[in-house]
Amino acid sequence: MSSYFKDKVVIVTGGTDGIGKALVEELLSAGAKVATCGRDNDKLYRLQSAYPSYPLHTMVADVSNENDCRRFIETTIKFFGNIDILINNAGISMRALLKDASIDVIRKVMDINFFGTVYCTKLALNSIIERKGTIVGVSSVAGYRGLPGRTGYNASKFAMQGFFEALRTELLDSGVHVMWVCPGFTASNIRNTALLKDGTPQGFSTLDESSLMTAEKCATITLRAIAKRKRTLIYTFADKRIIWINKFFPRLADKMVRKFFFKEGKLVK
Ligand SMILES: NC(=O)c1ccc[n+]([C@@H]2O[C@H](COP(=O)([O-])OP(=O)(O)OC[C@H]3O[C@@H](n4cnc5c(N)ncnc54)[C@H](OP(=O)(O)O)[C@@H]3O)[C@@H](O)[C@H]2O)c1
Repeated sequence: MSSYFKDKVVIVTGGTDGIGKALVEELLSAGAKVATCGRDNDKLYRLQSAYPSYPLHTMVADVSNENDCRRFIETTIKFFGNIDILINNAGISMRALLKDASIDVIRKVMDINFFGTVYCTKLALNSIIERKGTIVGVSSVAGYRGLPGRTGYNASKFAMQGFFEALRTELLDSGVHVMWVCPGFTASNIRNTALLKDGTPQGFSTLDESSLMTAEKCATITLRAIAKRKRTLIYTFADKRIIWINKFFPRLADKMVRKFFFKEGKLVK
């Protein structure tokens, strides 16, 4: 697999934590030229300092800001000459029932997860078409099946998948590959940063993070799927099963999902 990425220019949005950071690190060791962004300058500085002699371009950019995305993509092309692979990974989640949540929470999740993907993909598209490259969306089971407490997150991942399905069809004869991947629960910062009803971060995880798939394993599986130009990838049996049940027995899926996320009428996950 490492030879596949050697000397390829790969953008990973949101590379300072979790799955994105693991992707950046594995890509660098596979010989790729990597560009990444995030909103936190200190985290980016620490990442850049850990790889002083590697071809790594980092930049503070909030993917929900179109101009930030433009600067990030343009400097990447200036730095490395082109773009072979774009991995739209940056994302946040939410934990609030819609009846309690501020509309701003939904808007923020959509702005980052969906519009961040739209901006980066649109701005990188010509270079990727030239290179007959690959565009990846890091989605979730939440892109196939609604999960309570996460209406905005679901909307963003459903939207991402629809966007990529249409784009894949537009690009069918271009040599560009468009795919999305759906990791299962993976140890990361995403539950800490999930927005509560008023937009403040949850600040903790309701899961035992040490029992989840590691971000490193998730990155390895993701890169293998990219190298094989898979159409989509759903990582876990549990996610495949609920997607299947939802397709053929949607009422049963409603009950199963409700039972998983609620205890005594309260959202617990
Ligand atoms: N972990 C899971 O269980 C899981 C499961 C399924 C799918 N996913 C998906 O995997 C992707 C990565 O999530 P993760 O679990 O690795 O989360 P994470 O540990 O919280 O990492 C998210 C990364 O995205 C960056 N980011 C967030 N908002 C951004 C913005 N507006 N602009 C630029 N960068 C931004 C973060 O940096 P800053 O905050 O410093 O900007 C961080 O580097 C997400 O799309 C998520 O939906 C995760």
